[in-house]
Amino acid sequence: MLKDLEILERETAQLVINTPEELEQFRLTYLSSKGKLSQLMDAFRILPPEEKRSSGKPLNELKAKLEDFFKERKAALSADTSNDLTIDTTLPVGARVPGSAHPIKIVESTLCDIFYSLGFDIADGPEIEDDWHNFGALNFAEDHPARDMQDTFFIGEKVLRTHTSSVQIREMEKRKPPIRLVMPGRVYRNEAISSRSNCFFHQIEGLYIDKGVSFADLKQTLYYFVQQFFGEGTKVRFRSSYFPFTEPSAEMDIWAGTDTEENRRLTKGTGWLEVLGCGMVHPNVLKSCNIDPEEYQGFAFGLGIDRITLLKYGIGDIRDLFHNDIRLLSQFRGL
Ligand code: PHE
Repeated sequence: MLKDLEILERETAQLVINTPEELEQFRLTYLSSKGKLSQLMDAFRILPPEEKRSSGKPLNELKAKLEDFFKERKAALSADTSNDLTIDTTLPVGARVPGSAHPIKIVESTLCDIFYSLGFDIADGPEIEDDWHNFGALNFAEDHPARDMQDTFFIGEKVLRTHTSSVQIREMEKRKPPIRLVMPGRVYRNEAISSRSNCFFHQIEGLYIDKGVSFADLKQTLYYFVQQFFGEGTKVRFRSSYFPFTEPSAEMDIWAGTDTEENRRLTKGTGWLEVLGCGMVHPNVLKSCNIDPEEYQGFAFGLGIDRITLLKYGIGDIRDLFHNDIRLLSQFRGL
């Protein structure tokens, strides 16, 4: 018995199994009910007791060894898919070109960061608005020309918001002063498309409501923003203006210069670029949002993102921002 065991042990020790067919052959030859191992087990059963004692342990060890070997090869073969590989894993990986943020988004988030550093939070509102949030609550008279088909895109009873000032209203309805927010987003106007203007563009709205807020606070906030964004020493001018929702109202221009053709085109040759409208929030607007104008005052501003993006990157035509031309977009890295 011990000799037979030794023979079987040596025979199986040299086996190499690399295919499922070889594995099956191994199972049939050694482990099946008529296999060599089973034959030895049968022989063992009829051995005299003293031989049983000496060969029982080696037999069991060999049995365990063969069964382990079978299991190990089976697992290895089912995990190994090298035979049907269609992908050459040795090839170098192709370089991926990472995407980049759109220049408008880069500028928008730079602006948000500047105001965030002054304590302004960021809020968001819907692009499809109702008349109340886009006009009514902002103190637009019933017959104000901005409600006219010329300027506003209507969707049934609703409008595509013509400015981000609608988000001011939504936030004042929700929050209690003090409120300090910037609200970036896309706005729509039914305007002739040219190199300077488009039928949709981007704004960032600012709103600060608290006790004792003055026009000086507004100016100082905007000065700070201009120095941060356009660089120290950038010249600014305020022109008085009119918006139904602010009183007094102003527009702010920055000196963009006349040294390049883009600048002349953007500024209509004057060198001054209009970047935002602003003013002290009209008491009627506060009342519309259930804020007492006797107790609270505030300022608001609305800044056009697209034009300052053109200026910052020296792009001559606003339409170029929306052609999705990869040759332009791939020049921007950031965020
Ligand atoms: N909503 C105005 C516009 O789109 C800008 C503005 C915002 C003016 C806030 C004053 C205060 O032109």
